[in-house]
Amino acid sequence: MSAEAPARPPQRIALLTEPLREQIRALFPRYPSKRAVTLPALHLVHEHLRCVPLQAMSEIAELLEIAPAEVHDTMSFYGFFPQAPIGDVRVWVCRSLSCMLRGGDELLGHACRKLGIHPGETTPDGKLTVEFAECLGICDHAPAALADDGRVYGPLDEAGVEAMLDELKRGRKDGPTRA
Ligand code: FES
Repeated sequence: MSAEAPARPPQRIALLTEPLREQIRALFPRYPSKRAVTLPALHLVHEHLRCVPLQAMSEIAELLEIAPAEVHDTMSFYGFFPQAPIGDVRVWVCRSLSCMLRGGDELLGHACRKLGIHPGETTPDGKLTVEFAECLGICDHAPAALADDGRVYGPLDEAGVEAMLDELKRGRKDGPTRA
């Protein structure tokens, strides 16, 4: 009986490209340790992939010579890095005290109903992701929302939310879509 070579496991394609790895390595001299590069590395990966999937998390860990759990801890502490791709524009509607007292929760619900999604979801056309946030630091605009391209909205009412969604659906302020 001829012995067949055992099937090789499929090779995993790296999510972090070599230029991206180079960008991360270039940060090493600027920080006291590789571990301290975790947060900036997450931002770089998020910028390129628009999310940080599990595989990218373990590739970052490998590059920084730390455990994947440490990267995961940093990721979950900040709650900023989605694991799946998000819309061209990401908007956070605040539901912390100042905004909540002025109807922030209801406005988040209104935004999601208008788009036919739930908080944390992306519209089927991939244009918009709506999330709730704790205090965005713009309480003087309560009830407020913040887009990930820096646009601030508030004080919002239902009409203001609809105008905001219309504007955001037209794309990012710095260009129609992200790379
Ligand atoms: S409570 Fe909403 S921005 Fe501060």
